[in-house]
Amino acid sequence: MITASTLDCSAATFVVGVIAVDLGHLENTFLPPESRVKTGSDVIFSWYGRYQQAKALGEPAINGTVGSLLEDDGSLAVNKVVMDTIRNQPDVDLSAYAPLPGLPDFKKLAAELAVGPRLASLRDIGIHSNAVATPGGTGALYLSARSMLAVGDTILLRSRRWSPYDTLAKECGLPIAEWPILPVGDSDHPKVDLYALEEKLEEIATSQKRLLAWINDPAHNPTGISLDAEGRELVLDAFINCATKYPDKGVTLFLDTAYAIYADEPYGWSETIHKKFSWADWPENLLICWGFSASKSHTIYGMRCGAIVFLHPSEDYVARLGEICAVTGRGTWSLAPRLPQSTLITIHSDEDLAISWGLERSRLKEILTARREMFNERMALSELPLMPSDDGYFAFIPCDDPLSIAEKAAESHLYVVPLKGGVRIGLCSIGSSDVVRAAEILIESWHTLAE
Ligand SMILES: Cc1ncc(COP(=O)(O)O)c(C=O)c1O
Repeated sequence: MITASTLDCSAATFVVGVIAVDLGHLENTFLPPESRVKTGSDVIFSWYGRYQQAKALGEPAINGTVGSLLEDDGSLAVNKVVMDTIRNQPDVDLSAYAPLPGLPDFKKLAAELAVGPRLASLRDIGIHSNAVATPGGTGALYLSARSMLAVGDTILLRSRRWSPYDTLAKECGLPIAEWPILPVGDSDHPKVDLYALEEKLEEIATSQKRLLAWINDPAHNPTGISLDAEGRELVLDAFINCATKYPDKGVTLFLDTAYAIYADEPYGWSETIHKKFSWADWPENLLICWGFSASKSHTIYGMRCGAIVFLHPSEDYVARLGEICAVTGRGTWSLAPRLPQSTLITIHSDEDLAISWGLERSRLKEILTARREMFNERMALSELPLMPSDDGYFAFIPCDDPLSIAEKAAESHLYVVPLKGGVRIGLCSIGSSDVVRAAEILIESWHTLAE
């Protein structure tokens, strides 16, 4: 075994024992270009590391970095009902594989949890659903990217997004087209740039055989934006019109609802879809998918529990999609963990447990609502261009130099995440008693840098 005795990062050369190794040369020897372009520094984790370091040094540090909900004392918020239920699962569910598409009862449950109470009414109007269990909502995003598009096809995203969207698109060989998260010019709706969306849909529909768009709503990461009923309808209509105009193109709208459970309208999309198709025909070439994630809703981030849920008028087609996605899953992560699936089945098939889970979820939502109200109120007294922050875990201040703002805030002991185009503030991780102070630090930092 050889051990690294020195490490000279500047020259990208490890000196191992007495043998000097040129990392660039090794990479070129072993790795194809697709691998060599990958770099691993995750900005969220590195700023979280800085917060932890500051805390360890005894600073009164405020943590606005992580994407997990923390209690006011800084501990991870966990839904106790879920934890207790996991610990009581039978050995077979701890040990055995799940079926490739997921436990049958979990598949049904995932559709219910993603679509919400409207699932039954959608069935009544002839729309069918199916689901495949995935390792988290990320797995659902991946399956849609792998199954609905060919390598080289363009995927449509909003201009501001969770950064792993870019990683997923790259891993799947998909170039990205964007439409603005908020209208750039005049718009009839304050949060939907319909013109830009329609233009992008047209562009993609006329240049490739199929179309896939991911929309993270409600409670968008990293802004907290949620669309209202009117906004959702505008977006849905744009996809329906595109499908109607191009009947030979497959048009897939993928709703990433990872934070929906903490939004005021967790099932708003189902309401919009149900309202629309109660009187209008569903174009055969339109597919709606949900990315269900139990990470936040059931506070089991690390257990990797989620599902892709399909909605379409053809029962045979949603069954076929399930088969395709199970094969893709088999060839990627094998299958999704069984334990969290059986845990969710236990909770949601027992009325008392389901009620207790719901009460705890409501308590967690109240924590977020209280923090957001304080933050938005304080921000409203400033000139900072805070993006609308309606629901969920985050708020976002767009700016040209996010790194400087984050550094300035850190000087006053607030740690936030500088992302492309602005800073993300994790309201989920800032204790209630620190929220106003956090807003004030951001305002001070902004003004200091503007001077
Ligand atoms: C926007 C968004 N989508 C999807 C996910 C998926 O999460 P998971 O794979 O843990 O279910 C996350 C998690 O942070 C997210 O922020």
